[in-house]
Amino acid sequence: MTDRYVVIGNPIAHSKSPHIHALFAAATGQDMSYAALLAPLDGFAAAVRDFIAAGGCGANVTVPFKEEAFRLATRLSERARAAGAVNTLSFSGGEIFGDNTDGAGLVRDLKVNLGVAVAGKRVLLLGAGGAAHGVILPLLAERPATLTIANRTADKALALARSFAGCAGCGLEALAGREFDLVINATSVGLSGGESPRLTFSYAPGALAYDMVYGKDTDFLRQAAAAGARTADGLGMLVEQAAEAFLVWRGTRPDTTRVLAELRSA
Ligand code: ATR
Repeated sequence: MTDRYVVIGNPIAHSKSPHIHALFAAATGQDMSYAALLAPLDGFAAAVRDFIAAGGCGANVTVPFKEEAFRLATRLSERARAAGAVNTLSFSGGEIFGDNTDGAGLVRDLKVNLGVAVAGKRVLLLGAGGAAHGVILPLLAERPATLTIANRTADKALALARSFAGCAGCGLEALAGREFDLVINATSVGLSGGESPRLTFSYAPGALAYDMVYGKDTDFLRQAAAAGARTADGLGMLVEQAAEAFLVWRGTRPDTTRVLAELRSA
């Protein structure tokens, strides 16, 4: 019988995950299906239970359900526990295993696709919401020289940084005069198409500015390009977090090069 997977979110209609996983399954010869599932805002747990009852093997979880998936899981990976959120669920023998592949996807996109090592770099993470929280542990595991978490609401950055050893939190104004080698935008500014706050730090020569949002010429990336930084959007992270989820479920890591190239050209 074909193994069934879904991505659950609200909204979900524009998710690229079914297409990405269909390409992975074809390339690796896996007998599986992967569909998009819209859950009502107050109906995530019920949607998961219905899918398990129907024989589902696993699910990706996206906005706004990642924290609820974290609470629903009966067992968590270390990286999901550190992220406080779950984007990958596996169902077996009554167990709901929760994992989080977002940070691994980001790090792999940086290292493998963009050729940018995190090790030894002065890294700035902008934002202190769920997206930022989800990538801190995998970034720290790469041993950056420093990891600074900066947020419009400074208290949130300070609180987030306190829950991890090896990073510091601050408000955006405290960045004045500082220089970074890698700057990752994990705020939701780009999603809303809003203007990024004027940023007062500087980019080191050869620095990379990375926006987790994809497919948009965000104000953050425009400012970075104007400051001479190399820029990248989050499409590679999307594909790499999917590949990592595929590995969790199927035990094989699909090649992402052609999938990413196809999505880029579309
Ligand atoms: P997500 O799960 O995508 O991280 P979130 O938890 O709502 O979403 O967090 C959104 C992040 O974007 C927060 O860090 C938020 O800053 P505040 O904590 O100060 O609200 C940040 N953000 C959203 N709009 C912003 C803006 N216009 N300027 C600066 N930061 C913004």
